[in-house]
Formats: sequence, structure tokens, C-alpha cells
Amino acid sequence: MSLRLAVLGSGSGTNMQSIVDAIEAGTLDAKIVCVLSDVEGAKILDRAARHAIPARYVSCAPFKTKLDGEAQETYIRMMKEAGADTVVLAGFMRIVKQGLLEAFPGRVLNIHPALLPAFPGLESWKQALDYGTKVAGCTVHFVDAGTDSGPIIVQKAVPVEEGDTPETLHARIQVQEHIAYPEALRLLAANRLRIEGRRVRILAP
Ligand code: GAR
Repeated sequence: MSLRLAVLGSGSGTNMQSIVDAIEAGTLDAKIVCVLSDVEGAKILDRAARHAIPARYVSCAPFKTKLDGEAQETYIRMMKEAGADTVVLAGFMRIVKQGLLEAFPGRVLNIHPALLPAFPGLESWKQALDYGTKVAGCTVHFVDAGTDSGPIIVQKAVPVEEGDTPETLHARIQVQEHIAYPEALRLLAANRLRIEGRRVRILAP
């Protein structure tokens, strides 16, 4: 079934771009129906506008780290009005709460720049480097009530190289993110994902 995606982001929007590129290349059966950002002037909004995707800054005040209260209601209303059936968190730097999860049950996805359950939270590539892991990576997962804790759909490993800085490691993780997110959405669009407890089973095509 063709997906109708609402993308939420706070930053540069390279993950949203990888989804746009997959749709335009005909390799992902989906349409981005709206892009919402909690950051005024975020680059993700410009990127969306360049592809004629409706894009809006929507304040999350008075909250600093979560999407809750009236702001959450506004986000849900705008996504529903746009006809979204799936919410894609793409560098959205806030915790989403129960209200949004209940409005889109089993249909909220996130990408995280680490091999979860290692290094949840912020700047995970830096956490991995500081910890001294030899392998970093990224994870696409369904969102649950916890932080970066939902059932895992796709993971990609990225070797840590001698001489890596947080920036060089994050850049190589992002290359894999841009493969992983369209891959996870392709599986969702093909109805090949089944959540069983903590596990996501991937059905054969
Ligand atoms: C990505 O690396 C994403 O994994 C990370 O923010 C970046 C957004 O980049 N997300 C988180 O850290 C969420 N906790 P983008 O705006 O270019 O897609």
C-alpha cells in the first residue's frame, strides 16, 4: 500500500532527502504529505519546499525537549489533515509522547545514529567514539513510550576508523542512514513487517 508520510525534523533534513530521492526514483511507494519542524528556519523546511512538499515550522513551546500538550495536538491535527498514515521522525530532536503514538498506532518510526540499544539519547556517534567501540552504526525502529527503545526494523553497522573524529564518524553513519530509512519504509509499504513483542519479523516478499 502506498504510504502517506508525515516527516518531522529539526535540522538539515538529509534523511528526509533520502526518502524523497527514493520516492522520485520509483523505489519507494510513498508520498510525503507534510513536513513539520520545531525549529524555525530549519534546513529540512527548505529542502521540502524545493520538492513542493507542504512544510511548516510549528512551535513546541513551552516545552524544550518534548512534543506535548497543545503543541502535540496541533502536530496531530496537521498531520491528520494532510492525510498522513505514517509518522517519520527524521532528526526530530524531541521525545514524542503517548498522544501522538495513540493517534498513529504502530505507525511512528525513528532513525537513531547508533546500534541500539547502545547509546540512546543525544550525539550517539560521539558517545560511541568516547566509549571506544570499534563498530558504530544506525537503527530504524518503531517508536514506543520509551526513549530510542522501540522494536528494531533495520540496522546498519559502520566500522570506527583510527583517526575518526565525531564529525567524520557521523558523516559515515549518515551515508548508511540514507540507505536504512528508505529500506525500512519499503518493508512497511510492502506490509512485510510484523511486530512480535520486542522483535520485528520481516516477512518474505
Ligand atoms: C541523524 O543523524 C539522525 O540519526 C539524528 O539526527 C541526524 C539528523 O540528520 N537523530 C537523532 O540523533 C535522534 N535522537 P538530518 O536532519 O540530516 O536527517
